[in-house]
Amino acid sequence: MSNQDKIRQLVELREKARLGGGEKRIESQHSKGKYTARERIEMILDEGSFEEFDMFVTHRSHEFGLEKQHYLSDGVITGHGTIDGRVVYIFSQDFTVFGGSLSETFAQKVCKVMDQAMKVGAPVIGINDSGGARIQEGVKSLAGYAEIFQRNIMASGVIPQISAIFGPCAGGAVYSPALTDVVIMSDKTSYMFVTGPKVTKTVTGEDITTEGLGGATVHAEKSGVAHFRADDEEEGFLLIRKVLQYLPQNNLEDPPIIECNDPIDRLEDTLNEIIPDETHLPYNVKDIIYSIVDCGEFLEFHRHFAKNIVVGFARFDGIPVGIVANQPNYLAGVLDINSSRKAARFVRFCDAFNLPVITLVDVPGFLPGSSQEQGGIIIHGAKLMFAYGEATVPKITITLRKSYGGAHDVMGSKQLRGDINYAWPTGEIAVMGPKGAIEVLEGKNIAKIEDQEERAKYISEKEEEYRKEFANPYKAARYGYIDDVIEPRNTRFRIIRALKTLSTKKDKNPPKKHSNIPL
Ligand code: HXC
Repeated sequence: MSNQDKIRQLVELREKARLGGGEKRIESQHSKGKYTARERIEMILDEGSFEEFDMFVTHRSHEFGLEKQHYLSDGVITGHGTIDGRVVYIFSQDFTVFGGSLSETFAQKVCKVMDQAMKVGAPVIGINDSGGARIQEGVKSLAGYAEIFQRNIMASGVIPQISAIFGPCAGGAVYSPALTDVVIMSDKTSYMFVTGPKVTKTVTGEDITTEGLGGATVHAEKSGVAHFRADDEEEGFLLIRKVLQYLPQNNLEDPPIIECNDPIDRLEDTLNEIIPDETHLPYNVKDIIYSIVDCGEFLEFHRHFAKNIVVGFARFDGIPVGIVANQPNYLAGVLDINSSRKAARFVRFCDAFNLPVITLVDVPGFLPGSSQEQGGIIIHGAKLMFAYGEATVPKITITLRKSYGGAHDVMGSKQLRGDINYAWPTGEIAVMGPKGAIEVLEGKNIAKIEDQEERAKYISEKEEEYRKEFANPYKAARYGYIDDVIEPRNTRFRIIRALKTLSTKKDKNPPKKHSNIPL
C-alpha cells in the first residue's frame, strides 16, 4: 500500500466512523426529533474546536453474535474542545450504535476523557442517550458503569460535571448523571428511571407511561433530579454553555469575572415600595433579583421544583455569584423538605466552585405538619444549615422581611459565619411571628375573655405590641447580628461593595477526613 493509499484509508475510516450505526439509524434518530451524538457535540462546542479521541475503538466481545457487528467508536463519541474559548471534555452517547448501550470499551473511552479532564482541571460534559448496559456484555458492562461512577465521585467538587439527557437513561445508568452537578433534560424526548414501566407494572401493578414515570416534567417539577427542563435539544445546548460561563474550570480557580456595563451604583427606587405594608401579603422575590443583578440576567436552577425557594446564578459588577432567596409568592416562602434539599445542594455547589452566596431572606419559618415531620424535615432542614455553616465562600445575607425562628438561623445568619448581614427596614427578625408568639405567651389570658369582640381586640393589641417590640431589624442590629439596616434601593451597590471587600476572604474548616452531613 502506497503512502497515498494509507492516507486515503484513513479518510475512509474516518468517514465510516462518522456514520455511526449507519444512515438508516441516523434517519430514525432524526425522525424522533433527536440529533446524533456528533451533531450534538458540534452544536455545544465552539465551532471547529472538537478534537476526537478513540474514533477507531471497537468492542472486543464474542458473545451473542457481537463478533459479527463492529462499529467504529463503539457507541460513544469522546474528546475535548472549547466553550467560549475554555477547554471542556465531552462524551456523547451514540444511540445509532447498539442503542448507545455501554460496553467495556465504551466505558474505557468515557473514563479516558474523565481522567484527562481531572489532570487538566477542566469541566466534563456528558450527553446521555442510551439503552443502558450492553446486554450481550453482561457483567463487563456493569463494571464499566462502576468505573464511571467512581470517577464521577472523585471529580465531584474538583471539576464541574454537567449531564444532559436527550434520550433514554434507565436502570443503573441514571446514577452517573445523578452524581454530577447539573442535570438538563429535554422535554418529551428524554426519560430517566431506575425501573421502567414494564417492571413497575409487574412488581407493583401500577400502570404508568414512560413520560409519567421519568419524563423531564417529572424530574424538573416533582423529584428535583433535573435542574433544567429544556424545550428542545437546542435549548439544552445553550443551557450547558450558559451554566459553564459562571463556573471556574476547577475548584482551585476563581469563577470568570466579565466586564460589566451595568452601573454599580444604579438605584432601584421601586425596591423601596416592593414590600407590601400588610406583612402577610406576598410579592415576587424574582422582581428583586432581576432588579439588583447585572443587566437583569439570572440563570435560575430548579425553576419548577420547590418554588418556595429560588436559586440560581447571576453577576454583580461582573462577579459570578449564587443567589438563594425565599419566595413569598409560593407557600409564603416557608422552608419545607424539598426547598431545604434544593437550597442545600445549591449552596454546596457554589461553595465547591468558589462562588459567593447571596441570600435574600423572607421566611416565616419551617412548614408545620405531620407529613413534614414524618418525611424528616429535621434532617433536611439540617442539610441546609450544614451547607451554610460549612461554606467558606463569601456569604452576604439581606433580610428583606420575615426571618423567624430556626429558619432565621438557617438562612445565612451571622452565627453560621455570614460575613455581611444587612436588613431592609421592613425586616422582622424574631423568634417567631406575632400571631404564634401571642398564642403561646397570652394563651391563658385570652382563654379567660369570654366576649368574642373583646377577645379579638385583646389579641390584636397584644400582637401589635409584640410587632412593635420584636418584628423589626433593630433588635438584631443592636446585638450586631445585622451589620447595617440599608435602604432597599441601595441593595445592588451594597452587595457589590460587600463582594469587593470580601474578595480576599480566607476561611477554612478544621482538618478532617470529611464531614458527616445529615444526608
Ligand atoms: C444492546 C441494545 C440495548 C442494550 C437497545 N439496543 N438497548 N443493544 N444492549 N441495552 C439496541 C436494539 O437492539 C436496537 O438494535 C437498537 O439498540 C435500538 O433499539 P430499539 O429498541 O429499536 O429502540 P427504541 O424502540 O427507541 O427503544 C429504546 C429502548 C429499548 C427503550 C432503550 O431499546 C430498550 O428497552 N432497551 C433495553 C433497555 C434495557 O433493559 N437495558 C438494560 C438495562 S440494565 P438494532 O440493531 O435493531 O438497531 C442496565 C443496568 C445498568 O442498564 C447498571 C449500571 C449499574
